[in-house]
Amino acid sequence: MKISIISLVIFALLASVVISQKVELLSSSMQNEKCPTPLVKLHDNVSVSYVGKYEDGTVFDSSEFHGPFSFVVGGRQVIPGFEIGVMGACLNEKRTIKIPYQLAYGEQGIEGKIPPKADLFFDLEIVDVVAGPDVPLYVSLIPSGSTIGAFVILGIFVGAVYYIVKLYPGNADEKPKPHVKQPKEKKNKKAKSN
Ligand SMILES: *[C@@H]1O[C@H](CO)[C@@H](O)[C@H](O)[C@H]1NC(C)=O
Repeated sequence: MKISIISLVIFALLASVVISQKVELLSSSMQNEKCPTPLVKLHDNVSVSYVGKYEDGTVFDSSEFHGPFSFVVGGRQVIPGFEIGVMGACLNEKRTIKIPYQLAYGEQGIEGKIPPKADLFFDLEIVDVVAGPDVPLYVSLIPSGSTIGAFVILGIFVGAVYYIVKLYPGNADEKPKPHVKQPKEKKNKKAKSN
């Protein structure tokens, strides 16, 4: 029983570490003060020119080598951090983002290309946005992963506290209740009716 509480707590801690990873917007600049087109949203096809660097400034990829890159936001064609990093941007907006390795290529990286646990930095510019189909209302009502995660952690915490309180009841005289067995009759009845 103790083990399951410990594993619950560990699970909650791990979950909160994963959920707390965010893409950082380090800088943003726009050509015009106001946003000329709707903000980049889920399902839009965006074209992005970019320079990707490691923390030490080494460039590992750049659209200079192959032209701007197009992808559909939410289409999982790129690392999660890149999709998050363009969300809400305007046409011609320039951003510098930091993507933690958990939202990039993870603990392993890519052999021969991306080292393990590499946080990535991108200077990017939104060069084109083709609006995708409108997101249905019910989709926009689905809470984000972090909201769900927060509720899961809260649920686990409340459950663990409840469990601990039950394990150590204030009244030491209380005897454990005998386990109530289901009457066998019921089972037989069910078997007959089938
Ligand atoms: C996104 O737009 C580009 C042109 O900007 C196009 O080449 C590409 O096929 C489009 N992708 C999708 C999935 O529609």
